[in-house]
Amino acid sequence: MSYDIKDISLAKKGKERIVWAEHDMPVLSLIREQFADTKPFKGKKIGLCLHVTAETANLARTLKDGGAEVALCASNPLSTQDDVAASLVKDFGINVYAIKGENNDTYYKHIESVLKYKPNITLDDGADLISVIHKKYKNLIKNIKASMEETTTGVIRLRSMEASGELKLPIIAVNDADTKHLFDNRYGTGQSTLDGIIRATDMLIAGKNFVVFGYGWCGKGLAMRARGMGANVIVTEINHIKALEAVMEGFRVMKGIEAAKIGDFFCTVTGNINVIDKEHFEAMKDGAVVSNSGHFDVEINIKQLRKMAKSVKAAKDFVEEFVMKDGRRIYLLAEGRLVNLASAHGHPASVMDMSFSVQALSAEFAILSNNMPPKVYNVPKEIDEKIASLKLKSMGAEIDTLTEEQVKYLKSWQEGT
Ligand code: ADE
Repeated sequence: MSYDIKDISLAKKGKERIVWAEHDMPVLSLIREQFADTKPFKGKKIGLCLHVTAETANLARTLKDGGAEVALCASNPLSTQDDVAASLVKDFGINVYAIKGENNDTYYKHIESVLKYKPNITLDDGADLISVIHKKYKNLIKNIKASMEETTTGVIRLRSMEASGELKLPIIAVNDADTKHLFDNRYGTGQSTLDGIIRATDMLIAGKNFVVFGYGWCGKGLAMRARGMGANVIVTEINHIKALEAVMEGFRVMKGIEAAKIGDFFCTVTGNINVIDKEHFEAMKDGAVVSNSGHFDVEINIKQLRKMAKSVKAAKDFVEEFVMKDGRRIYLLAEGRLVNLASAHGHPASVMDMSFSVQALSAEFAILSNNMPPKVYNVPKEIDEKIASLKLKSMGAEIDTLTEEQVKYLKSWQEGT
């Protein structure tokens, strides 16, 4: 075994957390039992570039029990749970290359460590693994059957590679499965982002103006949960339909620059660059708290904020205080990286149960497929249906089935008014 982690002696705590998460991952546990029987990945190597969390640990175990040799690196320099990384190495025989707070050089060195295994399947969260393979290690492409992509940002990058003719591998867009984005992006991001903001700041949300930049699935979840905690939620958007949806949900919708003047908390979930920029910082009130829950740390123009500040200091863990030339203070959380994973523990296990079940079954589908030319594929509908039905069952909810008469009615067109 080989690894590069913070401290192997943290394994005991990590194992407790992995087992705790497992309790809330019944669908993935079932898949793990099945994989232990059928060994779909026997003799195969799987390279993972995912947030190294207790939930990811359970996915890595599932793939290993399915017969794979597994190597894992972080998909973000600040999201690694060092105790989990230690337990994965010590207790579960997974090769891990991830240290919370690693710099960019180490981050990419760790990606290369995973690529040294010459994986047959890869699982990415943000497409960094696939991007490095296409830029530097094209020779590995012939070994790789397919890659799974976990997140919206990654799928967007991969679709743009496909559109420009540069994609040389089949990709399964795990993010786009209904049992992924409708739950993980919405309920997962909603809860874990507030968790991250609250753990970092210890501040009250009730009665505050909470500005959500972007009303995609993540933004919807965040706006919903911030309202649930008593905030006055303001949404900014660039898309008319999404903005309309936010208005009809009862949120105030306005331009970012107007929101900047009145917000107490700001959080970006757009997937785009410099969404909070110079003009917004200039307009913000003293004490504004700024964070990001989108995949990359590009949504807040931090370079600009640094330039505008007369002093910068760490206020507390995961909180940096920027004092502007006019004396106003702006607080940046988690260096503008994913606040839900940097200062909290990411999405709860119950929702990752579905996302990672999609990953596991999509990887099995890919390894068993014979003909997948390079392009971005949707997750097969049957996988989505199976996961939804198992999840419902695990939650004790039953649903009805159509009667024969109803099936016939839905197929006919003659009957009307
Ligand atoms: N992305 C968001 N939350 C996560 C978690 N708990 N584990 C892995 N990836 C995540």
